Amino acid sequence: MDKKIEEKGKEGLMSRRFFFESIGLGAISIAAIGSIALTGEYLSPNVVREPPMKFKAGKPEDFPAGSVTLAADQKVYIVRAKEGYFYALSAVCTHLGCITNWKPEEGIIACPCHGSKFDTEGNRIAGPAPRPLPRFSMVLDDQGQLVVDKSLVVSEETTLKV
Ligand code: FES
Repeated sequence: MDKKIEEKGKEGLMSRRFFFESIGLGAISIAAIGSIALTGEYLSPNVVREPPMKFKAGKPEDFPAGSVTLAADQKVYIVRAKEGYFYALSAVCTHLGCITNWKPEEGIIACPCHGSKFDTEGNRIAGPAPRPLPRFSMVLDDQGQLVVDKSLVVSEETTLKV
């Protein structure tokens, strides 16, 4: 009888030992997986992918005279004046960086955030924006495509005649 109790006690001890060993192994495994994940995150490059600064906007004939066309993915307006020449304007408001909207019924570019307004040449006509919308370099490439380079800000008088 005493032997049976002793054996049951051993079984209980074994199952308790097994239980605590399992918890210990589980905790070590979780810590190891966490360490590996953090190391992997630390070693991988933390890069923000942005669209290229230079892009093809289309062919001149795609833009009627007197038009303002938003290249939404690039946040740039392709403007073709009534006289036929081109220029590219940033669509990013110079106040706090909201994306502006072209309002054809009013003939202005308006910022939805704090009410800045710009004319089609990018000049501020109302609101808190401190500067005009920047004008970017635009050229015609060998294939007859308009190419805008957002890394090159040009003067407010710069236009492209095609
Ligand atoms: S961000 Fe455009 S007016 Fe403030």
